Amino acid sequence: MKSINQHTTFKVEEIRKDFPILSRKVNGKPLVYFDNAATSQTPQIVIDAIVNYYSNYNANIHRGVHTLSQEATDAYEQARQKIQAHFNAKSSHEIILTSGTTHAINLVANGFSSILKQEDEVLVSALEHHSNIVPWQMLCEQTGAILKVIPMNQEGELVITEYDKLLSKNTKLVFVNHISNALGTINPIEDIINKAHKVGAAVLVDGAQACPHITPDVQALDVDFYVASAHKMCGPTGIGMLYGKSRWLNKLPPYQGGGEMIEEVTFKKTTYADLPYKFEAGTPNICGGIAFGVAIDYMNAIGFDAIASYENKLLNYATKKLLEIEGLKIYGTSKNKTSVISFNIEGIHPYDIGTIVDKLGIAVRTGHHCAQPIMDFYDIPGTVRASFSFYNTKEEIDALVEAVKKAKTMLS
Ligand code: ALA
Repeated sequence: MKSINQHTTFKVEEIRKDFPILSRKVNGKPLVYFDNAATSQTPQIVIDAIVNYYSNYNANIHRGVHTLSQEATDAYEQARQKIQAHFNAKSSHEIILTSGTTHAINLVANGFSSILKQEDEVLVSALEHHSNIVPWQMLCEQTGAILKVIPMNQEGELVITEYDKLLSKNTKLVFVNHISNALGTINPIEDIINKAHKVGAAVLVDGAQACPHITPDVQALDVDFYVASAHKMCGPTGIGMLYGKSRWLNKLPPYQGGGEMIEEVTFKKTTYADLPYKFEAGTPNICGGIAFGVAIDYMNAIGFDAIASYENKLLNYATKKLLEIEGLKIYGTSKNKTSVISFNIEGIHPYDIGTIVDKLGIAVRTGHHCAQPIMDFYDIPGTVRASFSFYNTKEEIDALVEAVKKAKTMLS
């Protein structure tokens, strides 16, 4: 297998060569992929890792004494260690491999159903993706706990003075994303975590949109739970992770029963395996886990500082260029944001803009972005969302701006 390209200096044209999909055409035009917040593209090194697994050592893990099973087990557990190192968890048993962020959140929510009591309060931010709202609503329905919302302002930022007022000794849990998928706002999670801990509440941070741009240090943050998906950070779909402090993971009951999550099974009683296996029933996404580790290596070889600085330049350039279009409004104008631009043009439905720019080879997401409460706040049906990654270019942004102008002319 090829080793990871060391991009010692940030040269986007070199980086783009790592991604085979970026050379394809869509509707006869070069693909401009600006739907990175939905899923990132996959570098050849990650594709190779998947092919290598299925070509050479496809086997079930933790079960066999045979060579293939041991090779697969070693590679999977090495991936867990890479994830641990990347997020700076104290121990690899604090990393639970899940099918993605949604699975990880549901696992925690399910665990708290036996801990929360009636009248306990849980706080969720107004900026959440549905996956960090609905599981908690379901939990509140089951337990009688009360869900309260940390409000947002017109800039798309959380109103921390209101958060301060909502916190009390009744607050047991706080859920917030690190970065909003719909607007790109970076939330002040350090402050949110500190304040929650002062009243004895635990915090779950949804890092799905942060991990492609920054490296969270879960120990420095002192966060209780942090969740993410591989496919947002150059890995495959169907694999993600839950970081949880050992003391919490030991306290929560298993999410699913099945093979590998047990210590001993009799018809009288079953005892459960230690962490992390207590939460990993059934055959996991072995290949996905291994490829997740390779994706982390790939992104670290480029460097998260270089990625963030380059993406910030793209964000500033695109913001300036798009705002030159008359009638275009950007939603999410915090100074503290990542490379996501959500916008509308007065009088035009976002879906129509998305359809026209697709004809010109440009992929953007349109709609509510699984964040309907944010759209309700702005009283809009949805937005056009262009989300940039480190392999995008200024020239691609120029193509987007021209395409949006064309769409505006056609639809006005
Ligand atoms: N959560 C993904 C998005 O924001 C799917 O598009």
